[in-house]
Amino acid sequence: MNVFITGISSGLGQSLAAAYLSQGDTVFGLSRRPPTMDFPSEDWSFAAVDLADFEGAKAGTQELLGGVNQLDLIWLNAGVLGELKDMADATIKEMQHTFDVNVWANKVVLDTVFAMGIDVKQVVAMSSGAAVNGNRGWNGYSIAKAALNMLIQLYAAERPGTHFCALAPGLVDTAMQDYICALPPSESRPSVEKLKAARGTEYMPGPDGAVSRILSHMPKIIKLPSGSFADIRLFSE
Ligand SMILES: NC(=O)c1ccc[n+]([C@@H]2O[C@H](COP(=O)([O-])OP(=O)(O)OC[C@H]3O[C@@H](n4cnc5c(N)ncnc54)[C@H](OP(=O)(O)O)[C@@H]3O)[C@@H](O)[C@H]2O)c1
Repeated sequence: MNVFITGISSGLGQSLAAAYLSQGDTVFGLSRRPPTMDFPSEDWSFAAVDLADFEGAKAGTQELLGGVNQLDLIWLNAGVLGELKDMADATIKEMQHTFDVNVWANKVVLDTVFAMGIDVKQVVAMSSGAAVNGNRGWNGYSIAKAALNMLIQLYAAERPGTHFCALAPGLVDTAMQDYICALPPSESRPSVEKLKAARGTEYMPGPDGAVSRILSHMPKIIKLPSGSFADIRLFSE
């Protein structure tokens, strides 16, 4: 399989790349930093891309995927959290950055790939429970993930030849949780205390564990109506 992954330098993206490479697939990845892991195969290519720079994102995608005719799967995984705080304290400027990376950059990547004439079988965008739960303090991240779900639904409507899904991966112990779990208690972000309690338990696996769970559910994901939002926690094991 040819698999294209955004946000390959850490967390879920890096573990996805390692998992696909270990089963003999070819991986194309982008992020600002290169991956830190020693991957189990040399069958991968990398482009250093800042997705907040849309022209750079287009050029980097074109360079990375030049000569590729078919992608079996695109993981729109790259994302930023931003600072957790009340809407009233979050500036439009900071939320705009979150929105640029978590939403518009995915439009740039998809439009670039399709304009290159690449045949794409499946697209999975890494969404979040934050897209729908409206927890206090998640400001631009929640808004961006809700918009990402709709972006995926809209592309699904215009591209029936490609299967699309926005997937909430559940809680995963990555750099995002390092930030969240270091926050002091505050009434402006009550859900943070639940995440701190989940860390180190089965409810918050590391990225490798989360990726094995996600990959085990891929046969179910491809059977969902294209454009669906799915939460991995709602699939039975
Ligand atoms: N961890 C969780 O509990 C959780 C829960 C729900 C959803 N998610 C979603 O899962 C996805 C992966 O997150 P993670 O938990 O694995 O966090 P992570 O370890 O922080 O990984 C985020 C990835 O996105 C890339 N990225 C961020 N900004 C970028 C930019 N401007 N340009 C290019 N790449 C950029 C990062 O690479 P560089 O910094 O090198 O650019 C990194 O590879 C995100 O979409 C996140 O919203 C995570």
